[in-house]
Amino acid sequence: MESKMKPAGTMTVDFKGKKGEFPVYEGTDGPPVVDIRTFAKQTGAFTFDPGFTSTGSCESQITFIDGKKGVLLYRGYPIDQLAEKSTFMEIAYLLLKGELPTKMEFEEFNESITMHTMVHEQLKRFYSGFRRDAHPMAILVGVVGALAAFYHDSTDINDPVQRKIASHRMIAKMPTIAAMAYKYSIGQPFVFPQNNLGYTENFMRMCFAVPAEDYEVNPVLADALDKIFILHMDHEQNASTSTVRLAGSSGANPFACIAAGIASLWGPAHGGANEAALNMLAEIGTVDRIPEYIARAKDKSDPFRLMGFGHRVYKNYDPRATVMRKASHEVLNALGVENDPLLQVAMELEKIALEDPYFIEKKLYPNIDFYSGITLKALGFPTEMFTVLFALARTVGWIAQWTEMLEDPSQKIGRPRQVYTGAGMRDFVNIDKRS
Ligand code: SDX
Repeated sequence: MESKMKPAGTMTVDFKGKKGEFPVYEGTDGPPVVDIRTFAKQTGAFTFDPGFTSTGSCESQITFIDGKKGVLLYRGYPIDQLAEKSTFMEIAYLLLKGELPTKMEFEEFNESITMHTMVHEQLKRFYSGFRRDAHPMAILVGVVGALAAFYHDSTDINDPVQRKIASHRMIAKMPTIAAMAYKYSIGQPFVFPQNNLGYTENFMRMCFAVPAEDYEVNPVLADALDKIFILHMDHEQNASTSTVRLAGSSGANPFACIAAGIASLWGPAHGGANEAALNMLAEIGTVDRIPEYIARAKDKSDPFRLMGFGHRVYKNYDPRATVMRKASHEVLNALGVENDPLLQVAMELEKIALEDPYFIEKKLYPNIDFYSGITLKALGFPTEMFTVLFALARTVGWIAQWTEMLEDPSQKIGRPRQVYTGAGMRDFVNIDKRS
């Protein structure tokens, strides 16, 4: 990847007689960045930024978020246009290659993905080692990490051909592995992928078909799930993407890096929020109990937070939530469950929270997870599968970001520093001398 940062002046630091001068760059959009790669060398000090709220880890040309304007672009295209006019598989090509495909390019890409959807027969034995009630994210971390034990011909990260095969294998097999985790949890036989089905239809069939009868994919529901996948594909340097990049920076194989990303996404503050949001709506139960939970969310002594609200970057609204809200109503209408009690609680909670001064002052708005949980439940997925579906979609973003990192000449192994406030140097004391 060739850098496209534009020089935009310098910034100086003056501390106890030590001066440092650092170049400032601008990108296509968004705030300027101060290049502090020589900060320690020039000033003798480290920067300090737990949670990286003010720190950019890389230059990227994949996704752009403007948290104030509620903008999300995949390779420059607004998320609402892509969700309405494109498909998950076409956008997968866009995220990986940087441009929308021609018809021929798409057919070739789609064919390659389709031809990698089956998994090695021996990989199935991993599932029987799990308890039936194992969380599917635990299964996903384990099975995806184990792919490196099967595909030795695509783990050399320095070979672009192997990187491409590994990328297509990962994107193609994630739905199969995810569906197998679901089938295993309900004691039903695994369903093979069908090459005549599209990516999302194939996944739905592998989840919901049974050998005893034919299964027809409902196109309205498949379209809604495809939209949900599109909304979850990439999101700049979020926790799980940063995890994939950091793992990849050591030269780890792509399957290990994606397994690391899955592990990070599992957290309830991140990808686990859709499962946590639905569990929260179920715990609230009825509209009249909403004020009690709003009060708890404001109470600093109470660790409770409104799951599905707030975002590190979006401080006005999450544009994905807008598209997700529309898709959730389409699904619930199509299924005739518009009066779903959880949806009633969700709609009332959204209304109350958006009018509450605390949430307005803290800029806490419904994020994508607030609506995706309700929709996925209506589509027939159990709550514990919600983050699995997030991981399925985000695999494309993780692969695109991992590839970009490997092709970026400025990237090196990630190794943050720290400020040490532990004990000063001291000598060992034998146990018989300790008081
Ligand atoms: C995702 O990074 C990404 O892009 C992630 C993601 C992606 O696509 O990859 O968008 C996916 O993870 C979406 C976020 C899903 N998480 C949740 O819905 C969990 C609930 N949300 C919070 O945990 C929280 O909002 C975060 C973690 C999402 C963001 O936290 P920040 O930006 O670090 O902000 P913070 O925790 O410092 O909170 C700021 C203030 C605090 O109050 P004060 O200390 O200033 O008094 O807002 C409060 C918080 O107490 N606050 C909340 C709240 N979220 C923040 N109060 C109640 N309910 C909440 N949900």
